[in-house]
Amino acid sequence: MNTVLIDGIEYSLEGLEKDAWLRLLNGSFKYKDVLHNPVVANVNQHGVNIRTVVLRKVNITKKQLVFHTDVRSGKWNDLQQQNNISWLFYDAPGKIQIRLSGTATLHQDDAVAEEAWTTSTMSSRKIYLVETGPSTIAASPVSGLPAAFEANDPTPEESLAGRKNFGVVITTVTWMEWLWLNSKGHRRAGFTYAKDGNFKADWLIP
Ligand SMILES: Cc1cc2nc3c(=O)[nH]c(=O)nc-3n(C[C@H](O)[C@H](O)[C@H](O)COP(=O)(O)O)c2cc1C
Repeated sequence: MNTVLIDGIEYSLEGLEKDAWLRLLNGSFKYKDVLHNPVVANVNQHGVNIRTVVLRKVNITKKQLVFHTDVRSGKWNDLQQQNNISWLFYDAPGKIQIRLSGTATLHQDDAVAEEAWTTSTMSSRKIYLVETGPSTIAASPVSGLPAAFEANDPTPEESLAGRKNFGVVITTVTWMEWLWLNSKGHRRAGFTYAKDGNFKADWLIP
């Protein structure tokens, strides 16, 4: 049998791949979804660096994943030098791990960033008002925000000061791996997306 049965649903390799992307899409829409806060990894001259982000957008057709960040952050600088990037998702209730890797493009002064900024809420924009960049050493445990915004979100007009610090990172995925944990034996599959549109799907030994 060339399918896997999960919660009463039978998946072919192709069906599984579609299901994984739909799960990711769902994770981008719902802030309480188990896939909403993945881990993103990249490398710099000191080694590997990982951190949690918010999955902001998924484009299934283009095989793209999006997060937002401060352009003064370490990861933004690192990705400018080396744009290889990996994502890690774990759906604990579903016992499904999804790993993806690809290349990142950075957007700050373009229509992509402008659209993302325009549709961001004031509470999302607020963190870009931090006065000195992320990772700057501070004399005490402070937020870095102007005092007025500690208690309240900025108004749309006040938030504009943060626009110059706001960036969008788009990953175009070239590889995805799916792993399902099961007491009777795990299942694993790998998918590659070539630039020329070639798609390869394989079952893998977990
Ligand atoms: C639940 C959660 C969501 C986060 N979302 C983001 C995000 O979308 N973008 C971001 O830059 N940092 C986000 N962070 C903070 C990062 O994990 C990280 O601490 C920060 O971006 C600095 O990373 P860097 O020094 O590698 O640039 C989030 C942290 C948590 C705990």
